[in-house]
Amino acid sequence: MKIFIETYGCQMNVADSELVAAILEREKHRITNNISEADVIIFNTCSVREHAENRVLGRISNEMARKRHNPELKIGVIGCMAQRLGNSLFQMNKNIDFVVGVDQYKKLPEIISQAEKNNSRSNTDFNPNEIYSSIQSHHYGKFNAFVTIMRGCNNFCSYCIVPYTRGRERSRPVQDILNEIEFLGKKGFKDITLLGQNVNSYNFQKTNFAELLYLANKIDTIKRLRFVTSHPKDLSDEVIDAMANSSKVCEHLHLALQSGNDEILKKMNRGYSAEQFFQIIEHLRAKMPEIAITTDVIAGFPGETERQFEDTIELLKKIRFDYAFTFKYSPRAGTKAAEFPDHIPENIRLERLQRLIKLQENITLEKYQQQIGKTKEIYVEKISKKSKLEVSGKSRDFKITVFPGSKNLIEKFVNVKITSATGWTLRGERFD
Ligand code: SAH
Ligand code: SF4
Ligand code: F3S
Repeated sequence: MKIFIETYGCQMNVADSELVAAILEREKHRITNNISEADVIIFNTCSVREHAENRVLGRISNEMARKRHNPELKIGVIGCMAQRLGNSLFQMNKNIDFVVGVDQYKKLPEIISQAEKNNSRSNTDFNPNEIYSSIQSHHYGKFNAFVTIMRGCNNFCSYCIVPYTRGRERSRPVQDILNEIEFLGKKGFKDITLLGQNVNSYNFQKTNFAELLYLANKIDTIKRLRFVTSHPKDLSDEVIDAMANSSKVCEHLHLALQSGNDEILKKMNRGYSAEQFFQIIEHLRAKMPEIAITTDVIAGFPGETERQFEDTIELLKKIRFDYAFTFKYSPRAGTKAAEFPDHIPENIRLERLQRLIKLQENITLEKYQQQIGKTKEIYVEKISKKSKLEVSGKSRDFKITVFPGSKNLIEKFVNVKITSATGWTLRGERFD
């Protein structure tokens, strides 16, 4: 059967869709990227904010129209929203054929074949041991690949649904990770991102994350290593040293701040103060002066006063992240913060969000402009969309860079001198 997978949410879901593709291909199904020819459509969903869920529910009900012309078509829901809502999804949309949670993807082939016999099925049982270790994911990219090193999250930040949708933290065996990286490198993926909700707490039979980085750094089939996501409270000096001492680990870190105010951070259950976060940034920059740091920030957490919000603004100005993903607080049923009494009105959350976006836009532009004059190593990925005479690729600090060149540069690492910058893209010239 031809199966189309539509993915929402974070990189974990992107990686899971690749895993699901591999599980289905083992059973002789074929993955298609043309939804009109699909026999089965799978939505891999996200629950992190209400908006994410509403969007996918809208998409699902739109695609149900296809069943009128193709009554055999099956439509299923997997991922975090499937995990969270389980059987109640069948009530929300009676045309859904199957619902499968994050620890039950190995059962998908069986569940799909039941759905074909019109037995709509669901399985959202947690399996705290499932790490899908032996399965070789179907990696769709050509240059960058995600390698899952852990699943689940134990942190229970008070606003966050992830620990409820992904279950408890578990680490994948070291050797499986290293084998997959080596294999991917041989296939031509030179830029590998290690993946987990909190990679810094990776721990498999006494190998911690810093040690894993040193081991991965020795694999000579790859050129670059990255990882997401880090939790500030677990980003130890040992990990920072491992980053600085491992030549393949790129000067690029995503470290979620969430708020610049200590009382809010406490209510969020983040386990660090604004000052501690700032010290981590100072330490990172002292060890890796060229490091690009990106972050996540939430506007309008319950009880956040104007003064507390301004602490966040001030800290963003002081730290000057390369980029910030900014979110309006969204209450998630079942989380602690959803029960807090002092929710902020929607219009204030929105207004604060817009202030964050505006501030960061300027900082990002300035950060990019500071790159002018530097020479950066670019991993060339493709001919530029805007001009056939230019190619585009990524720097070690994950900035898209465009420069004159032809297709024979694709897959190569080229030194480029940066000559100009917009908020998102660097431009330059070859410099060998
Ligand atoms: N494990 C990652 C985060 C995964 S969720 C980490 O800790 O860095 C991605 C981001 O979504 C979070 O960092 C947070 O900024 C945001 N987020 C999570 N729950 C949210 C909520 N209820 N409302 C608004 N933003 C939220
Ligand atoms: Fe959510 Fe916090 Fe876990 Fe990140 S660390 S996934 S924000 S609970
Ligand atoms: Fe969304 Fe699940 Fe990721 S809730 S952010 S897809 S872990």
